[in-house]
Amino acid sequence: MTNAVPTLKTKRLFLKPLTLEDVPNYSKYFIEYEVIRHLSHVVPWPYPKDGVVDYLETFILPSQGIDRWTWGIFMQNTPSELIGCIDLWREGHPENRGFWLGKPFWGQGLMTEAAEAVTNFAFQNLDFDKLVFSNALGNIRSRRIKEKTGARFVGTRPAKFVDPSLTEAETWELNKNDWQKL
Ligand SMILES: CC(C)(COP(=O)(O)OP(=O)(O)OC[C@H]1O[C@@H](n2cnc3c(N)ncnc32)[C@H](O)[C@@H]1OP(=O)(O)O)[C@@H](O)C(=O)NCCC(=O)NCCS
Repeated sequence: MTNAVPTLKTKRLFLKPLTLEDVPNYSKYFIEYEVIRHLSHVVPWPYPKDGVVDYLETFILPSQGIDRWTWGIFMQNTPSELIGCIDLWREGHPENRGFWLGKPFWGQGLMTEAAEAVTNFAFQNLDFDKLVFSNALGNIRSRRIKEKTGARFVGTRPAKFVDPSLTEAETWELNKNDWQKL
């Protein structure tokens, strides 16, 4: 098992381990209601001024490569500008993965591309047997990524999100054998 978070390269993207240097661009693209509204209610809204740096210092950086793997998403043609984030963690809540992308970049298949690379890493390098995913019922873009990457719909459960009109979460599973077949 690796302790590092390696840079992953896809057709159009670099996924690089998140650092404090990314805070300005993380804040620029993340702190927008359309991005945050679909996330768990534990994410504060209105989003606090130093929220990103606190989140990285408290939750991400101490766990990087230990039980959490968090990548910034960068276009290869603008490799110093973070445009989104994808992360993976060992203990499910019940899920094992989260992601967000800056709104100007939606709808180009970029998160599907990032999710495929991270799924390969989880099964091949970290030896996960199964990944559990989750999204708010009604988050069609996020749901579509699960469908496109071969995940199996498990069911819905009550859940709270930043947007109080979202009251249920969908759960999905993808096991290693099914991913390898895909
Ligand atoms: C969810 C999110 C990461 C998707 O990123 P993305 O790069 O736009 O996703 P992709 O382009 O790879 O795939 C989106 C899919 O949804 C489809 N889609 C987009 N809008 C849609 C709509 N209104 N109805 C149906 N499908 C839609 C797209 O067509 C695409 O599917 P396709 O490739 O089969 O055409 C991005 O919208 C986001 O950051 N949202 C806010 C944060 C969030 O929801 N995070 C996930 C929490 S579970």
